[in-house]
Amino acid sequence: MSETASPLTMDKIVSLCRRRGFVFPSSEIYGGLGSTYDYGHYGVLTKGNIRQLWLRAMVQERDDIVALDSAVILNPRVWEASGHVGGFTDPLVDCRHCKRRFRADRLEDSQCGQKPSKRPGETSDCDLTEPRQFNLMFETQVGAMQDASSSAYLRPETAQGIFVNFKNVAQLARRKPPFGIAQVGKSFRNEITPGNFLFRMREFEQMEMEFFVPPDEAEEWYRYWIDERVGWYRRLGLRASNLRVREHDAEERSHYSSGTSDLEYLYPIGWQELEGVANRGNFDLTQHTEHSGTKLEWVGQDGERYTPHVIEPAVSIDRIMLAFLCDAYDEEVVGDRERTVLRLHPKIAPVTAAVLPLIPRDEGMATRARSLYEELRRRHQVEHDDSGQIGRRYRRQDEIGTPWAFTIDEQTLEDETVTVRERDSLAQERLPLSGVKGWLDEALEREWRSPRGD
Ligand code: GAP
Repeated sequence: MSETASPLTMDKIVSLCRRRGFVFPSSEIYGGLGSTYDYGHYGVLTKGNIRQLWLRAMVQERDDIVALDSAVILNPRVWEASGHVGGFTDPLVDCRHCKRRFRADRLEDSQCGQKPSKRPGETSDCDLTEPRQFNLMFETQVGAMQDASSSAYLRPETAQGIFVNFKNVAQLARRKPPFGIAQVGKSFRNEITPGNFLFRMREFEQMEMEFFVPPDEAEEWYRYWIDERVGWYRRLGLRASNLRVREHDAEERSHYSSGTSDLEYLYPIGWQELEGVANRGNFDLTQHTEHSGTKLEWVGQDGERYTPHVIEPAVSIDRIMLAFLCDAYDEEVVGDRERTVLRLHPKIAPVTAAVLPLIPRDEGMATRARSLYEELRRRHQVEHDDSGQIGRRYRRQDEIGTPWAFTIDEQTLEDETVTVRERDSLAQERLPLSGVKGWLDEALEREWRSPRGD
């Protein structure tokens, strides 16, 4: 951020997302629904890039991980076995006076319903109940009957769909530990302290990979996946000063975990979990073996048999997108004008390049711009923009993070060259029109580091 700019706040990110159509509050015309959001055009494109880059690193570029897409609604017994029915809860307190509900373990971060400058319980009017456990799973009914036998849950994580398919995948994909199963899909949690935009949503898109390993290799693979995931973020330009690894101590770990590290990002709300990497031991496969009666173990051809241990990197696209937007958001004064710019990695940016005819009503420029656009769009997400002054068009592209703009101008008509403008440095160079496609392919493969440092 330039020296003149004020500090980054969540409000700035929310307002840019709204203004440029990345993200809107869901069902807004009916007043919205707490902590659910709809992604607009640029949001969908950015999310798609993140999903693709994750799948590419997890599946396409490796020999030891396969993909899966399991159902959102599973047999409810899955959630009994996993411990979610009994234990996926947050402690809640109600205030009998203001009728608001708070997380008992987060009272320090909450505001009193009557006096927002105070914490719940701090004023003499506050009248808090004893904490009680509240299950975060959304319950639903399957089929026409509405009784206890038809009740089911929307999945609160994608991981269990992977564990219950362990046998299918190990056999059909002919895999031997160490091997992994990767899944991307929606998860649902009835969060009781929602807020903070994409950080904590009730419906979010998780990307989880369960890596099944021989028990004596679990610790080694746990460390390996922490490093891999940090490396992935760093290669995509997330700044090192905003990313850290924090290992949980024993009290903080989930019931299933024998080691968990959070990759934390410095969001405007402070250091928070971006992604978790957990050593889940053999908890899940053992639980599902006991509850289903189907043995989920590895049996080798030589008779070797064991229950694999599981290492799990788990994250949501929404939290990644929020981290990248925060990392990229910048305001600066160029000449005498302010600009807001998203300094996103070119592979994350929703639009890779813009094609801009300087004078749209000039037929020579318009035709060349249109044909360059048609050529580039076959391989890349590109935009053709011929409305408004050129300066305004550049600003629009800066705000959505488009790394390059190709401008067709008078000189193009003379020598068939175009100007390429670089988003971050604002440097301009000329390229032959016929070489733009090759130049863009090559530019996308270059290593990218944030111009804002580390
Ligand atoms: N299978 C393990 C698991 O689900 P988790 O720490 O509860 O572990 C994993 O969630 C990741 O999912 C988090 O690190 C975060 O990136 C994302 N996540 C969890 N709850 C979320 C929410 N309410 N909104 C957005 N993302 C969420």
